[in-house]
Amino acid sequence: MCGIVGYVGKHKVKDILLDGLKELEYRGYDSAGIAVLQEDNFSLYKAVGKLDNLVQKTADFNPEGFAIGIGHTRWATHGKPTELNAHPHLGESSYVVHNGIIENYQEIKKRLQAEGVRFLSQTDTEVIVHLFEHHLKSEPTPFDAFKKTLGELDGAYAILLVTKSLPDTIFFAKNGSPMIIGLAEENEKYFASSDAPLIGHAKEVVYLGDGDYGYVSPNELKIFDYNNNSVKPTLATLPTSKLSAQKEGFRFFMEKEVYEQSAVISDTFIGRIQDDGIVFEELDPALFDGINEVKFCACGTSYHAALASSYLFERYAKIRTSVEIASELRYKEPLLLKDTLFVVISQSGETADTLETLKMAKKAGLKTLVICNVDNSSMVRLADASILTRAGIEKGVASTKAFATQMSVLWMLSLSIAEQRSTLTTEEIKAQIKALRSVPSCVQVTDELHEKIRRLSKRYLHGHGFFFIGRDVFYPLALEGALKLKEITYLHAEGYPSGEMKHGPIAMADPELFTIALMPKGLLYDKTKSNVEELSARDSTICAISPVEFDKADDFIKTHSHDHYMLEFFEMMVVLQLLAMEISVRLGNDVDMPRNLAKSVTVE
Ligand code: M6R
Repeated sequence: MCGIVGYVGKHKVKDILLDGLKELEYRGYDSAGIAVLQEDNFSLYKAVGKLDNLVQKTADFNPEGFAIGIGHTRWATHGKPTELNAHPHLGESSYVVHNGIIENYQEIKKRLQAEGVRFLSQTDTEVIVHLFEHHLKSEPTPFDAFKKTLGELDGAYAILLVTKSLPDTIFFAKNGSPMIIGLAEENEKYFASSDAPLIGHAKEVVYLGDGDYGYVSPNELKIFDYNNNSVKPTLATLPTSKLSAQKEGFRFFMEKEVYEQSAVISDTFIGRIQDDGIVFEELDPALFDGINEVKFCACGTSYHAALASSYLFERYAKIRTSVEIASELRYKEPLLLKDTLFVVISQSGETADTLETLKMAKKAGLKTLVICNVDNSSMVRLADASILTRAGIEKGVASTKAFATQMSVLWMLSLSIAEQRSTLTTEEIKAQIKALRSVPSCVQVTDELHEKIRRLSKRYLHGHGFFFIGRDVFYPLALEGALKLKEITYLHAEGYPSGEMKHGPIAMADPELFTIALMPKGLLYDKTKSNVEELSARDSTICAISPVEFDKADDFIKTHSHDHYMLEFFEMMVVLQLLAMEISVRLGNDVDMPRNLAKSVTVE
C-alpha cells in the first residue's frame, strides 16, 4: 500500500527521502516519487516500477543545505501505475502526497474543472492540491487554506503538502491511514507511514490520531485534533537498531522469516507460559467477565489464524466462537451483542477493513481485544486490550512468522480462558503447556527438509491447479497453504476441508490437478486418508504431508510424530511455506514483493 515520507532540515534531503521510501518498499508499490523545495525552487522526480528507477533518475540531483521534501511509493487505486499518476502531484506552486482514498474526488474535480483547473492525472489525490490552491486565493493564510481543504475531503487519508507560499513548512493530516512524525536534533522533522524509515534518524516520535492535522517547520510542530483544538504532542521513543529488518544472509526476507519462526515463537512465549498456567499480564481478567461469545475478525492470513483458533476456543475453552472476514462484516449489518468479546487479528494493525470493524464493535459497546504484531499501530491504540505477537518486523509480503506467532498466542489464549472457565483440568492444562513448549523445536527448518522441498518443487510448476486439503485446524492451514502458493507463485490454488471434495471439487481431479494433503497422525487421520484415497482413485497427483507412510501418494513429505496435533500443525505450516517459496523461486518470481500485492492494505 502507498507509503509516505517527509523531511524538514538541513541534511541530505534526497538521501533521507529515498532511504525512507526503501524502508517502506515492503508495503508494496508500483511507482514512486519525491519533491524537494529549496530556496523557492521545486525539484520533482518520479519513476514507474522499482525504487531503483527513481534512484537512477535522481543520480545528478544532490541538494545541499536546508530544504523540505516529501516522497511517496504508490500502490495504484485510481488510474494505472504511470509517471503522471505517481505522486507527488503538482498544483501551480504546491505538491501533495497522499495515502488512502478520497471518496468524493469526482465531485470536487468537476467543480474545479468548471473553474478552469486542468488535471494531469487520473488520481483521486490530485484534487487535494488543486482544492488547496483554490482556497489559497481567498483564505488569509496557507494553513487556513489547508484546513478548509481538509474540511471538504471525505474518505481515508494521510497527507503531506508543501507549498512555495511557506517554503519551510510541511502541512500534514491523518484520517484512517497511518502517519508518524519523527523529531531529531537540530530541529529536523521527519514523516513516515511506519516506524521503519524513522529508526536511526528520529529519537522521539508522535503517532498521529485520526482527525489530527497541522504543520511542521524547523521551529514549530503544531497539531490540531478533529475538533480543531490544539493538541500537545505525546512523544514516544523508537528502537535504535535496524538489524532485525535486514536479510542476514538469506536470499529473501520470506526465507529469513520462515527460519526465524522458532526464535520469535520462543519470544512470544516469554513470561506467558508458566509452569502451571498461561499468564497474559497485559490482560485485565475482567475483560472476560460477562462474555458468552468470542467473535474473531480479520483478513487474509490473519483470518486463517482466526479460523484455526476457533476450533481451539470451542474445544478447550468451551466458549461459542464465530469468525468473520472483515470486509464482509463491515457491510452485513451484523448483530453485535454486548456479551461478545470482539477480537481482531492483524499483523500490521493498520488493515483498513479490520480497523473499521474494530471501530464498529467499539461503537456497539463491545469489549475489544487486538492480537497484533505492531505496537502503537492504529488497532493497538484503539482496542480496549491488546496482545502483541512479538514476531519482529515482517517484510515479506507473504506472511509467515506473523501467522506462526498469532497461532501461538491464540492457542495460549484458548488455554488461558479454559483455565478461567475451568473447562480443562489442571492436568490437561499441564499437558497442553508441555506441547506448547515444543513448538519452537517443531518449526525449526533442517537442511534435509529444505533440500527435500527444494527438489520436490520442480514437479509442481505446471498443471491446472492445486487443492490443499485438511480437516479441523488443518482446514484453515490448507487455506493458508493455498494462499501462500497463490501469492508468490501466481498458480491457481484452493484450500478445502477434505470432507468437501465429493460435494463438487473432486470433479476436477485428473493427473494435472495437484492435491497437497495434510494428513496429521493425531487428528482424524483415517477420515482424511479416505478423502485423499478418493482423489488418488481419480488420478489426482497427490503430495501427502504426514508422519504416516501413505502408499497412494505420488510425493511424500514425512513429518514427525508428535503427542499433540497442534505440533503437527506447526510443522506442516513450515512445509507449506517452504513449498510455496521454492516453487516461486523456480518460476523466477519476486518472492518478497509479489505482483499486485501490498504488505499493509490500508484501503478497503
Ligand atoms: O496486517 P494484517 O494481518 O491485517 O493483513 C491482513 C492480510 O492483508 C494479510 O494477511 C495478507 O493476506 C498477507 N499477504 C498474507 O500473506
